[in-house]
Amino acid sequence: MKIQWYPGHMAKAKRQVTEKLKMIDVVMEIVDARIPMSSRNPMIEEVTENKPRLMLLNKADLADPQLTREWEAYFEQENVKPLTIDAQHGKGMKQIPAEVQKLAAPLYEKWERKGINPRPLRSLIVGIPNVGKSTVINKLAGKKIAIIGDKPGVTKKQQWIKMGSTLELLDTPGILWPKFEDEAVGYRLALTGAVKEEIFDFQDAVLFFLTFMASEYPQLLKSRYNLDSIPEDKVELFDDIGRKRGCLISGGHVDYDRTAEIIFRDFRQGLFGPVTLEKPVT
Ligand code: G4P
Repeated sequence: MKIQWYPGHMAKAKRQVTEKLKMIDVVMEIVDARIPMSSRNPMIEEVTENKPRLMLLNKADLADPQLTREWEAYFEQENVKPLTIDAQHGKGMKQIPAEVQKLAAPLYEKWERKGINPRPLRSLIVGIPNVGKSTVINKLAGKKIAIIGDKPGVTKKQQWIKMGSTLELLDTPGILWPKFEDEAVGYRLALTGAVKEEIFDFQDAVLFFLTFMASEYPQLLKSRYNLDSIPEDKVELFDDIGRKRGCLISGGHVDYDRTAEIIFRDFRQGLFGPVTLEKPVT
């Protein structure tokens, strides 16, 4: 597998997020509901310190609802408040201000003790690439905002988006890097679009996906490609799918690149139905 992790990027991202956090009361961490653990930033606890944190399990429309419930229970037990949303279709988003306010109860108490008048809570969205940070910000803002992030050489004045009278959201998200020490995490990130296509081996990622689907969602796999059965050997499975999809090259051989692209695209577009690529380990 070609995926690599660059500690330099990680350190820079951490610095940038830490800088933003100085202005922040509450953090909203976004993860991809299909890979809630792999799409977390391993430094999130350290970076956000003791700030109250709401975890948004986004892209719930693409995830397996049963496993999403299991993940919610898992995070509750870890003392991280989860809220499942589908930002693309605006589902679950209305609950965000109320949940944030609940999490900020200790802060309100502190203000009261000190005789400070409550001001709107300031929040920040953080997450790894492609988990839906911009989509969530745009939905919460109710309009399309140019989200530039932290690209070098690009400056943009940060602004607060008002959400009712009690909450404000910084319009530039904190971008964190994923960390993939083991191959499976890398493949999950690749399959869900969190890491760019040029840095991983396409066929390896698809083979990982087929092996996973054959074990966890055999029916979805069979029905997507009209398969009578799933061969034990995953290269044979690749062959079967390639033939079904007419991906052949001269001599009647299967074109593995094209077949892998089709499977990959089908997953990205949610054409297998709701699939979650990892289960909570308790
Ligand atoms: P980012 O700022 O964290 O990098 O993510 P962004 O909002 O740009 O979202 C990444 C992709 O995920 C976008 O698709 C967006 O439409 C999609 N997306 C965000 N939230 C949801 C959701 O709740 N459900 C679904 N199904 N999709 C969601 P895109 O523009 O087509 O990009 P790409 O997938 O081609 O990379």
